[in-house]
Amino acid sequence: MAAIAPQTLEEKPVAVESQSKSITLRISKFNPKTESNRNFVDFTIPYKKWTTVLDAILVVKENFDHSVGVRYSCRQSSCGSCGMKINGKPALACYTKISELNSNTITVEPMDNFPIIRDLVVSFERMFSAHKKLKPYIISEDSEITKDTKEFLQTPEDVEKYLQFSNCIKCGLCNSACPTMATDSSFIGPQALAQAYRYVADNRDKGKNDRLKIIDDSHGIWRCHFAGSCSKVCPKGVDPAMAIQLLRGYLLGFRK
Ligand code: SF4
Ligand code: FES
Repeated sequence: MAAIAPQTLEEKPVAVESQSKSITLRISKFNPKTESNRNFVDFTIPYKKWTTVLDAILVVKENFDHSVGVRYSCRQSSCGSCGMKINGKPALACYTKISELNSNTITVEPMDNFPIIRDLVVSFERMFSAHKKLKPYIISEDSEITKDTKEFLQTPEDVEKYLQFSNCIKCGLCNSACPTMATDSSFIGPQALAQAYRYVADNRDKGKNDRLKIIDDSHGIWRCHFAGSCSKVCPKGVDPAMAIQLLRGYLLGFRK
């Protein structure tokens, strides 16, 4: 890995508001199709109290290097696109304020445990295929709406059982933080397991046995070592480590 001489906004006459503080933004650059090593390129970027890491990357794209590969969409921690490693930890770039990192250098890298497509962009193929395998939708006997179909009422207690798990935005931070994902390329992963629990815990759903059969595997739920790092990094308050323990309760006969 090589570091290239820093570029600063002062060196180029660009239309960016004058700001009082600046940081070094160190961006990992790598195209696996044409390069064999990752490079880090440094940029000096001004920032304000509310400037996010994504804002700073977009300043680089606009003013210094249009080629920086970064995936984003909503810019409000809803779409799950902008996950990356920020100063060594998986986080959403649009939700991470520079002022809260307490560091003069901010290093951004692609998330671990995902193949790199380019620079900060990774492939979600493995995660989405595991997610799909676990049937992430309500499985119901009366899938057809007829004139006799009635509203399915749930109590607040019924909803509480799965509500936090339904907040998943599929950002992949949990899979990136998981040590088992790093060592077992067939492990189904905390994201998919948390979503399996989300539907198993929903009393409208009748797919529990199907899903339990899929996860009851040496590369499924039993492969989790309960490191708990998945739950620590989730930006939406989902607790995949707890979901995994609750699912194990069904398989071990402690829960019905
Ligand atoms: S459980 Fe949390 S960290 Fe994992 S994909 Fe969903 S929102 Fe992201
Ligand atoms: S851009 Fe949508 S979550 Fe960050």
